[in-house]
Amino acid sequence: MERSQQATGRFISLEGGEGTGKSTQAKELAKRLREAGHDVVLTREPGGSAFGEKLRHVLLADDAPERSQLAETLAFYAARADHLERVIRPALTRGAWVITDRFSDSTMAYQGIASAYSADVIRTLDDLVIGTTKPNLTVILDLDPVLGLRRARERAAAAKTAGLDHFEAKDLSFHVALRGAFLDIARQEPERCVVVDAGIAESDVANAIWHAIEARLGP
Ligand code: TYD
Repeated sequence: MERSQQATGRFISLEGGEGTGKSTQAKELAKRLREAGHDVVLTREPGGSAFGEKLRHVLLADDAPERSQLAETLAFYAARADHLERVIRPALTRGAWVITDRFSDSTMAYQGIASAYSADVIRTLDDLVIGTTKPNLTVILDLDPVLGLRRARERAAAAKTAGLDHFEAKDLSFHVALRGAFLDIARQEPERCVVVDAGIAESDVANAIWHAIEARLGP
């Protein structure tokens, strides 16, 4: 499909730092929308398509090789281009509700905080790769990074995985800056973004997200 082709579905992204419970909330939201009778596609980034999932493996492995900031950003956008073309745009065109666990705000937060140049590159790539396929609503789950990293560590221990992934393993100052970057995005684009406190009970977070969806998109 052409980037300019009119899509009729709704596009929702969930964003936030580590351990904010995005994946759990994305699943819960998909369940509620399906119960309301909608055709729902639940997906994630990096990943969402076969090629994107391969790139995810390379980017997130705990022994991932060091790479240039630009190479890392381009790899996230390579995965995103495939995800958009093969999964997101076709679903929106048939009228589905697409929920993605992370999208381009994650790149602006995780890669864009490196420098003003990185942020410029990301804005250029957004125009080129995303075009008009922007989320109708972005839910930013906000949490104290000390708590979020503790949750991420507990999750890794429970899953008996080798440990934290490439980004989880970065130091606390990175995660504090990350939280600030997401809140900045929400301040800059209040009509697209809603910030939800992720420090409250899981069911209350789910209700807050549902209210935001009803208020902004009216399912
Ligand atoms: P994910 O499993 O979504 O993280 P979480 O454990 O928080 O749910 O892993 C994705 C990781 O990739 C996460 O650390 C954020 C990072 N990321 C970027 O750095 N840039 C991006 O553009 C995207 C989509 C993700």
